[in-house]
Amino acid sequence: DMVKQTHRTGYHFQPPKNWINDPNGPLYYKGLYHLFYQYNPEGAVWGNIVWAHSVSKDLINWESLEHAIYPSKWFDNYGCWSGSATILPNGEPVIFYTGIVDEKNTQVQNYAVPANSSDPYLREWVKPDDNPIVYPDRSVNATAFRDPTTAWLVDGYWRILIGSRRRHRGVAYLYRSWDFKKWVKAKHPLHSVQGTGMWECPDFFPVSMSKEDGLDTSVWGPNVRHVLKVSLDLTRYEYYTIGTYDKKKDRYYPDKTLVDGWAGLRYDYGNFYASKTFFDPSTNRRILWGWANESDAVQHDKNKGWAGIQLIPRRVWLDPSGKQLLQWPIAELEKLRSHNVQLSSQKLYQGYHVEVKGITAAQVDVDVTFSFPSLDKAEPFDPKWAKLDALDVCAQKGSKAQGGLGPFGLLTLASEKLEEFTPVFFRVFKASDKHKVLLCSDARSSSLGIGLYKPPFAGFVDVDLTDKKLTLRSLIDHSVVESFGAGGRTVITSRVYPTIAVFDKAHLFVFNNGSETVTVENLNAWSMKMPVMNVPMKS
Ligand code: FRU
Repeated sequence: DMVKQTHRTGYHFQPPKNWINDPNGPLYYKGLYHLFYQYNPEGAVWGNIVWAHSVSKDLINWESLEHAIYPSKWFDNYGCWSGSATILPNGEPVIFYTGIVDEKNTQVQNYAVPANSSDPYLREWVKPDDNPIVYPDRSVNATAFRDPTTAWLVDGYWRILIGSRRRHRGVAYLYRSWDFKKWVKAKHPLHSVQGTGMWECPDFFPVSMSKEDGLDTSVWGPNVRHVLKVSLDLTRYEYYTIGTYDKKKDRYYPDKTLVDGWAGLRYDYGNFYASKTFFDPSTNRRILWGWANESDAVQHDKNKGWAGIQLIPRRVWLDPSGKQLLQWPIAELEKLRSHNVQLSSQKLYQGYHVEVKGITAAQVDVDVTFSFPSLDKAEPFDPKWAKLDALDVCAQKGSKAQGGLGPFGLLTLASEKLEEFTPVFFRVFKASDKHKVLLCSDARSSSLGIGLYKPPFAGFVDVDLTDKKLTLRSLIDHSVVESFGAGGRTVITSRVYPTIAVFDKAHLFVFNNGSETVTVENLNAWSMKMPVMNVPMKS
């Protein structure tokens, strides 16, 4: 407690102390949102995993309850790992989770039900004696067989996925049940991809082709596409595809135009892992939760006494083009906005940086629209870069390297004299057929501290530039910067640990290092209040 908590977040989901990882079993029940998550009750490093449990009326203010699921039976004595919740047609929730049964890490799938389903807090969960529901058969790798999904019901049969691998092939095994008790492995996995390694935390859900509304997980129909997301243990990134779910064959076919592998689309091109969506029937949204690990030194985590945060929940829906998903922070977050400052028609000539004054720059929500007179000055896109990850392009063409159209954007968590800053910026390139827009969140200059991982995260933005505008929203919160480019077309999260730019020594700037003049058409920044964050609920 003697450690000054300069990096603890103000409005992100965190328990008071200790290690957290994956969000588990998010669900909405009798007026409350429930979030469970992987938690070590004994320290700030991974281990002793239980399902911690919090509830909320608005996804922003949270109260914590007793642990929901913890080792207590032979089928989960060595750990209660990730899983999902399903709301049955009678309205009652069921949890599926992975149980670790021995010190060799053998994995089985278990279920748990509420002890008292009339309790909206769902405080107590029961693990019936007919567990486990799924054992690894002899053909599967028993130490790589985990993270059951929410179940979906089509044509009278329930289905779930279990993440796995067969040698180097990532696999989503499919299990079917007609009574929700006896689960039988389908002959073919729903999907698999050679060379992608272990698929952790698969997520499979429908999206509407015509509406932003989310769909319940069992919806199937002519106006519906499906999304399969997996978390790749090898790269610690997630990727997703959009495709067709053939319910007769029980197989998933990703659209041929998309990359089905580690270079595919991502929800987030930064620190975002083990995510999971759920359908919120009270607002008809599909909501995405993701975990951001620390990128601080492990010894620092121990000194701080905590590690890991859950990112702000995001609404997800299909872009009208059908080629990607869009994401946006849930509207409830705006309740935390307090003091507001604005900039408008602010010209940013080459080399300019202009401070956004009068807000708590260490804990702020900023939303900005940039405009530019033409695309003529965009630098040529080196064809060699087409083979690189966007991150490598950002590494070469950072915020300080002068450009044509860009780099322009925000300098977040900046010290007054810019010894430290995390730039979030666009750079526009001219490729042979069209423009390429890069969004970068570059942690390399974020801290003078040592032993930190400071990557230049980046992603390309598939955006129409005919109106010569680009928008950027960043959620800045002491040690995290979550940035939504072009209305949520490309999203990047960085974890950063400034040593000078902390509390009231943190500043926010807009900047431009391109030869083309860029105008801040409009900028709004709001100091963010602190929500109630995991205060224990009185019984
Ligand atoms: C992903 C993961 C899951 C596993 C859990 C254990 O971060 O490795 O595959 O169930 O964390 O805590």
